[in-house]
Amino acid sequence: MAIAISLHILAACIWVGGMFFAYVCLRPVAASTLEPAQRLTLWRGTFQSFFKWVGLSIVLLIISGHFMIGMFGGMKGVGVHVHIMLLLGYIMFAIFGHVFFAPFKRLKAAVDNQDWEAGAAQLNTIRKMVGINLVIGLITIIAASAGRFI
Ligand code: HEM
Repeated sequence: MAIAISLHILAACIWVGGMFFAYVCLRPVAASTLEPAQRLTLWRGTFQSFFKWVGLSIVLLIISGHFMIGMFGGMKGVGVHVHIMLLLGYIMFAIFGHVFFAPFKRLKAAVDNQDWEAGAAQLNTIRKMVGINLVIGLITIIAASAGRFI
């Protein structure tokens, strides 16, 4: 149990913290200081690296989360906060899956072809979806940690 909750929280920190850094800190500076070619190349490389960690985090969240539910005796043995976490978690996984297999794939192709206009459109889609997942992720952390006291 101690290992499962540790991996679970580390995975949540890496994913949600990474989205916070990308969206709140890096995005405005990159947008105001870099030309499209540099900016899109930066994001292509940044996402290429970050999304590997997100993939690992998702695997860890699913395995550790379901393991803990099993240890609590199944869904009947857990509080409403875990049901909320499960629902929001799977919405986050679906949004990430869409970003990875659709706009990110197209962003990579656009950057490789030096088509900056098409790349900017894909980056804009990714920005919106990461923004949504960041908000859901923060709400999930609040629900997961504060939920049991409500
Ligand atoms: C497959 C999806 C998930 C499952 C099955 C799951 C399951 C669980 C379970 C059973 C616990 C222990 C609850 C308790 O001790 O009361 C837990 C804790 C936690 N989960 Fe999840 N979780 C999932 C996804 C997520 C996601 C996506 C996040 C955040 C982005 C998250 C963040 C947390 C946090 C912060 C805790 C610690 C709560 C605390 O002990 O104070 N979980 N999770």
